[in-house]
Parts: sequence; C-alpha cells; structure tokens
Amino acid sequence: MTSDPVDDRSRWWEGSVIYQIYPRSFADSNGDGIGDLLGIVGRLDHLRGTDASLGVDAIWLSPIHPSPLADMGYDVADYTDVALEYGTLADFDSLVDACHARGMKLLLDLVPCHTSIEHPWFVESRSSRHDPRRDWYVWADPAPDGGPPNNWESVFGGSAWERDEATGQFYCHTFYPEQPNLNWRNPAVADAIGDAMRFWFRRGVDGFRVDAIQAAVVDDQLRDNPPFRRPSSMPGLDPGRAQAWLWNVDRPEVHDVVRGLRRVADEFAGRVLVGELYAPVERIAGFVGGTADDEFHLAFNFEMLLAPWDHGELTLAIERAEALHPPDALPTFALSNHDQPRHTTRWGRERARVAAVMLLTLRGVSTLYMGEEIGMVDHPKLPKDRRFDRAGRDAQRTPMQWEPGPGAGFTTGTPWLPTVDPERVNVADQRSRPGTLLDLYRRLIALRRESAALRRGTHRSIFGVAPDVLCWTRTADAERVVVVCNLADEPRTADLSRVAASGVVLLSTVDRGGDVDLRRLDLAGLEGLVISLPVAES
Ligand code: GLC
Repeated sequence: MTSDPVDDRSRWWEGSVIYQIYPRSFADSNGDGIGDLLGIVGRLDHLRGTDASLGVDAIWLSPIHPSPLADMGYDVADYTDVALEYGTLADFDSLVDACHARGMKLLLDLVPCHTSIEHPWFVESRSSRHDPRRDWYVWADPAPDGGPPNNWESVFGGSAWERDEATGQFYCHTFYPEQPNLNWRNPAVADAIGDAMRFWFRRGVDGFRVDAIQAAVVDDQLRDNPPFRRPSSMPGLDPGRAQAWLWNVDRPEVHDVVRGLRRVADEFAGRVLVGELYAPVERIAGFVGGTADDEFHLAFNFEMLLAPWDHGELTLAIERAEALHPPDALPTFALSNHDQPRHTTRWGRERARVAAVMLLTLRGVSTLYMGEEIGMVDHPKLPKDRRFDRAGRDAQRTPMQWEPGPGAGFTTGTPWLPTVDPERVNVADQRSRPGTLLDLYRRLIALRRESAALRRGTHRSIFGVAPDVLCWTRTADAERVVVVCNLADEPRTADLSRVAASGVVLLSTVDRGGDVDLRRLDLAGLEGLVISLPVAES
C-alpha cells in the first residue's frame, strides 16, 4: 500500500492530462462481462509507462463503490468499500501501486451530495421521524394539499420530492428518487464524508473528482423556483427545464461545503480536488483559485463540451475560460464524458483529429474520456433490453475496444453493453500504425509534456487569421508556439504575420513538417497544427 504521493511537486496537475475510466466498461479480468479493477491493472500499458503508451498524467475512475446501480454507481451504498463486481480493497491497493510505479496519479469519484436509498444512513434516516440520522437527509412535510413541499424539479425529470409512506414526509432528491440528498447543513454529514475521503487518501489516492457539487445545499425555507427562465448564456446548458433553478442548486452555502472538503484534502500532501458542476464559467470560476485559494483546485468547464462545431462558439468557449478564471487558477477542458454524447458522435468522426489538437494544446488541464483516443462513437441504437440508464446515457458508456472480435478484448464473456464495430475501431489496430488517431493523441500528449510552453505557458488568442480558423500562442520562458486549427472542411489560407514571419512545424494532423511561411499559411481542411516560433531577441 502506498500512502505517499508519487512526488511532492506542488500543483503536479498543472498542464496535466487526466484520463477518465468508466470502470464497468474499461477491461474485464474475470469474464463476467463487467469491467473490474484488475482489468484496469492489466491495461495500464495503454495509459503510461511504455513508448507506445498515451502518456497521461492521471486516471480518474467513475464510482467503484457498492451500489444498487439506479444511477450506475452514482448512488453509493458504502463509501469505503469496492463493489463486488469490481474486486476487493486488495485489488484497489494493487491498482494504486501499479499507477504510482508508472508515475501516474489516481483519482476517485466522490459523490458527496446524495447516497443510495440503500445506504445504511438513509435506511436509518427513513425508519422514523425521530431517528438520530433523520436530519442527515432533507425531509419536509407535505404541502397543505398533501403534495410535494414545493415545486422543485429533479435533474432527470419530475418532482425533486419523493413521499415516504411510513413516516408521512417527503425527502428531496435532486437526481433520481433513489438518490436522496444528504443534508450538508448538518455537520455530522461533513464529518462522515470527510472520513470517507481520509480512508482513500490513506490508501494513496491522489485526489477526487467531486460529483455534482451544486446540489450540496438547498434553500432552508424551501422556497419555490420561479416558473420562468432565461435561456442560458451557455449553449446546451439546462435543456428542457421549465423553471429557473434558483433555490435548489448552486446556493451560496455550497462554498462552505467545498471549503470543508478542501480542508480534508489539505491534511495530505499533493492531493487535488476537481469539482463538477454544470454552470457557465463565471460560476465555476468562483470555486477555484482566488486569494484565499481554499476551495477546489480545479473545476470542470463544460462550455467546450456542450458547444456546437461552430467557430464563434468554440472561440468563446476558449476565451471565456481564459478570461473568467481568477489569475493563477487553471482552466480545464474536455470534449466528452460518460454523461454526454461523445464528441465523435456530436461533431463527427472526421473532426476528431483537429479537435484533439485543440483539446491538448490549451492551457490548464485536459480530460480525456476513455475511447476518444481511438475515435469510439456512441452506440447508434441500443436494443431495449440492453438499456440500464433511464436518462439514456448508455450509448456513450459501451465497452472499451481493445481488439477486433466478439468481446473486443474487453471481455472473454458477454459484454454488459454491446460494443460498436470493434472490427474497425480498436486499440490494437491503431497502436502499431503511425498516422492513426491514437498515434496523434500520443504525439500530442508527448509534445505537451516536453514543451514548457504547452504545459505551463501563457495563452493568447489571435483572432481573424482566416475564416473558421482558431489560433493561439503559448509562451513560457524562452519557448513560444502557435496553434492553428482549421474547423472548416475546406482548405484555408491564414495570415499569421502578426505572430511571426515563419516557424517550424512541430506537429500536424496531416503529414507535413519543416519550415512554414506564416504570412501565407496554407491549411488543409480540418487541419490542426502546432508550430514552433523563433524566440524574440532580448
Ligand atoms: C454527475 C455524474 C452523473 C450522475 C450525477 C448524479 O453529473 O457525472 O453521471 O448521474 O452526477 O450523481
């Protein structure tokens, strides 16, 4: 068991690449069709440690705890154990050791705002109005007409309140009814979650991705949400909601909750907390950095992930991330995750290469979702009897495709979700061939690691170089690079004379290298380029 971090460099996460593993779908070591921890151990070569590895800095595992799977593990029934189908605590310790031996960090998913209805805390809480744990959850009397206490909607549709017949009260659930909200106004809840964090930190975990933190606190007077909302400033945010979610999420008190989590993380050296909340950048930026720097180290920013393939929208997604975070805070970027359609499906497979250049040359921290490095797409049409998630997110959670063949190298049994054309899209195929998407991801990550400018340099966008072309420079010490991404299918000629007269191609999505004239830079359709610039004489 390892309890020391791999190294004590402060902010090891600066410029890092985090790889999200959906444990159920990554690799199955025992043939039951479900991914597991030893399966992950067996596939670490893909991630880090050999010349052919992707070279990511950290992995983040979606929840691995015992759970009745109403929300596929985001309904936790025991915070300090591993679900039977994923293995044992001893397997987990081997995974920690194997990651650290490769110089890779391991992050877990912390789900602090709700438990499963099967968690013993909730079983006790619902047993009686006088149970000592009653106040660990958000209980309220019915409205005078016997209905829910107020009008709050839940994320997955319908009322956020569920009636408990035995005790005659309603409990609040921001997500599924099987996920009752914990009551963070009760300090005992903070203590219990803090102890769960310490349990994993002591086992050597390097940090947590903190789930859905906006739901930690609801209004203590349970005021109704107004039944009117303005369209969000962020395309794709809060689709289909009938009301403005003012009183049930993102309450000012959430900051106190996050400060409490941070105090626990700070008891250990070199640990990181990455917050997840679906909100525009100006909101998430309030949870990171700043003079006090006592909340999250990083927060997911989904503006790029939710943006359409549109030059203006992507320009804004980048520039808002740069402009709206406090100085010193690191922005984060991602294109896909287990909750949203994969970007290869949303934007199209043919855009995956230039999208990878964009994602992996921006400042801060970039997160990959397993399978995007080989261009996996969502399952086009899951048979009805193979659906698990009522919110329809199975399509992006299908098993990782390691090899061609029936189990796709994921399992020797029957995969829990069907694979999507592993004959054509798989790791083995792409690993050995230059020019594949996997090869491009590997080269981009290597470049990011080797280049101080890409890893920790400043960012400056250059606008108007050519229609549909994104462009920015990254500068650190004596090193300067310019990134150029043509979002159009057709060729473009860009004028980068404001940046420099010439440069040397470090990487391109098409086969080219050497010196280039930046006053008239010809770009292929959907070409992404990283160019090294001459350093100004001092
Ligand atoms: C987060 C998770 C999502 C889950 C929800 C409730 O958004 O990513 O999968 O359904 O929180 O825990």
